[in-house]
Order: sequence, then structure tokens, then C-alpha cells
Amino acid sequence: MSATRLPAQDAPAPRALDPERLRADFPALHRRVHGHPYTYLDSAATSQRPRSVIRAVDAYYRRTNANIHRGVYAAAEEATALYEGARDRIAALLDVDRSEVIYTRNATEGLNLVAYAYGEGHVGPNDAVLVTESEHHSNLLPWQRLCERRGARLEVLPVTDRGELDLSELDAVLARGVRIVALSHVSNVLGVENPVAYVAERAHRAGAVVVVDAAQSVPHMPVRPRALGADFLAFSGHKMLGPTGIGVLWGRRELLEAMPPFLTGGDMVGTVHLRRATWAELPHKFEAGTPAIAEAIGLGAAVEYLTALDLRAVAEHSRTLAMHAAERLAELPRVTVYGPPPGAARTAVVAFNVAGVHPHDLATILDGQGVAIRAGHHCAQPLMERYGVAAMARASVYVYNRDQDLERLVAAVRRAQDVFGGA
Ligand SMILES: Cc1ncc(COP(=O)(O)O)c(C=O)c1O
Repeated sequence: MSATRLPAQDAPAPRALDPERLRADFPALHRRVHGHPYTYLDSAATSQRPRSVIRAVDAYYRRTNANIHRGVYAAAEEATALYEGARDRIAALLDVDRSEVIYTRNATEGLNLVAYAYGEGHVGPNDAVLVTESEHHSNLLPWQRLCERRGARLEVLPVTDRGELDLSELDAVLARGVRIVALSHVSNVLGVENPVAYVAERAHRAGAVVVVDAAQSVPHMPVRPRALGADFLAFSGHKMLGPTGIGVLWGRRELLEAMPPFLTGGDMVGTVHLRRATWAELPHKFEAGTPAIAEAIGLGAAVEYLTALDLRAVAEHSRTLAMHAAERLAELPRVTVYGPPPGAARTAVVAFNVAGVHPHDLATILDGQGVAIRAGHHCAQPLMERYGVAAMARASVYVYNRDQDLERLVAAVRRAQDVFGGA
């Protein structure tokens, strides 16, 4: 494994992030928007990219530019080494074996891969899949569809007003034939970190496997899938400083080995005859066709950047800023902050509404002041139903955000309230 391995859990505390210094690494932050400095508060949708990632992608196209795993000429071998080197970095980040790290397009594809390649063979008519009320559609619809195809039931763990999972019925539900538990590690709306290790322990006792949607956790904290008790774990590169079009599915080796392939075609085979074929070793069995080579290399550079910052420092930064944001917004009149109450831990995101102002109008007014937030259902419509709203506004932070960005956010929300006449 490469030298980018995470520090041991008892390693000395890392240096706090210096977002002001880091901003110099992110060229897209330095534009002006409608005459204002750009205040980017939508990293939960997609993060900015540092120069090192942009350079890695650019260098692949300018200098290397060859397909992987097939040529014997210098550029082809260089491309393979860069692509596989990025896998080593990701394996070190997760503290897992490189053969278990499968490149996908994004978290969505990783979750669908599990729903098909594992789900089809393990979920039958009297079985169930357990999800939670706060899932992103990407970790809900693959399981809805699997249940429809297999005639299985979809069970749902509710969330409390604070956005925490209500686990009071967990064991009872698990006992009703649950074969797969699929849950997010961190909610993209509420910022709540779910107790994955606890749920996994109960799920395993009941004979279920655990699929973790880590799209909002891997960017923001050290995540070790085995320590979490996950059996599969998926995330996207573009939310963690990497390019779009590249993601990762990690799975336990024994499960991945026993699964049939998801997509078939070039690069994932052992030998092929006209009427039968054998599959390549892991992880290639699940990587059919020419992959997103430049993007994987870019993700490797993103992992290197985050590792150098130390994910523990990133976690502290994301939590502190998100908690400040929640506290300041909650102090404003007629503002509702969803999920953990002010003062309670939350990771990187704060969803809120301003009475009398539709979140889309709010986001538009904020954009007029250079403040970019997201408004809508955040691909979590059942959670919107749970809170009785059609949409929410959401501000989300990352390594390059500062307190000053939160001040601009609060000032812009006040301004919107003025525009709407203090409705
Ligand atoms: C919690 C969560 N899961 C899954 C996804 C899907 O990620 P992608 O669109 O990159 O596949 C997202 C994206 O917003 C997310 O926040």
C-alpha cells in the first residue's frame, strides 16, 4: 500500500486548516458574481477542485493520453501506472485492500451495482431491504426497484425531528427477513452522522449485509469501511475535490468475489469463447470498458491533497463551520433550521427555510449577492415529506470556506427578508 495511509487513530492532533491559505489553490473561487466576491456554499452538491487535481487531469491528456491495461508502449504503461496508483491512494485512504476498490462513475452507480450484482442473488420474495427516511434518492430508488423486481418488501427506519434515526424498532424490523440494510453515513440534508457501526452490528446479527452511502462522509472525515462494519460503501469523487464522472465502490472481498459482474464487455474478462466467458480478478471484474482514466488520476490527486490536510482536521473544520452556520441562521427571526438543533454536532451542511420566502427565491436573491446555495428537495423528497415542506434551502461548506462566508450568508438572508418585506 502507498505511503498516503491515514494516521493512526491515536496520532497527535493535526494542525487546524487555514482556509484563507487554501483558497489560493482553488482557481474557480476567485471569480466575481454579479459584481460581488464569490461565496461558494454548495460543496455538498459538488466541491471545487484544487490546481493539483486540474493539473493531474491536464497532464494526463497533454503528456500521457493512452488507454490502460492493454498497450506495452511507454505511454500506455504510464497511463496504467497512474490509474492504478490512484487506486492505491484510495485504498490507503480507506485502509482497505486495493483489490476491493472498484472505480465507478459516482456513488449512484456504486449503489446500483450492489443492488443488481448482489441484490438479485440475495433478495427473494419473502425478504426485505431496510432503508431510512433520510436517504438520497440514489440510495432509495435502487432498493425500491430491486424490491419490485424480486417481489420483496422495502422497510423504512424513520427519523426523529432532530434528524436522527429512530432505532427503537430496529431489531424488530431486522427480524422480518431483512437481507440488506442501506443507509447513508452522513445525511446530505441534515448533516447528521448516522450510527452506522451500531446499525451494522445489529444487522449482521440478523444476517443482513450493510451498504453505506458515504457520498457526504468520505469528503469530510476519516472513513474506514471495515471499522464501520460496512459490507459495501460508495462515494463520488466530485464531492471530495476530484473530477466528475469518477466514484468508488468498496466491498468486502469475499462478497465481491462471489458476485456476478454488473456490466460486461472489454477489460473485465479472463478468457472469452463464443458461448462462454470467465471474469477477470478483482477489481477489474467490475470495471467493464474503457474507464474514466483522467478522472481516476484526478481523484488520486484529490486524495493526496486531502490526505496532506489530514481528514481529522477537515472533519473538525466542516463540523465547526456547519455548527456556526446553524447557530447564526437559527438566531434570525422567522428562520427554521432543520435537523440537529443549534449546538448539536452536524457535518458540513445546514438546511433551513425562511418563513414567507420560497427557497428558490431565497437562492436567487442570495445569488444576486454572490452567495451560492442550493434550494429544492435535495434528491430527498421523502425527507421533505417527513418535515412537511416541498423544499429547503441548504448551505454547505468545505475546506476553503471561512467564517467570513457565513457572515455573507447571514447578511444575504437578512437582505432577502427585507426584500420580502419581513413577511
Ligand atoms: C448522500 C448522497 N448520496 C448519494 C449522492 C449521489 O451522488 P452522485 O450524484 O455523485 O452519484 C449524493 C449527491 O448529492 C448524496 O449527497
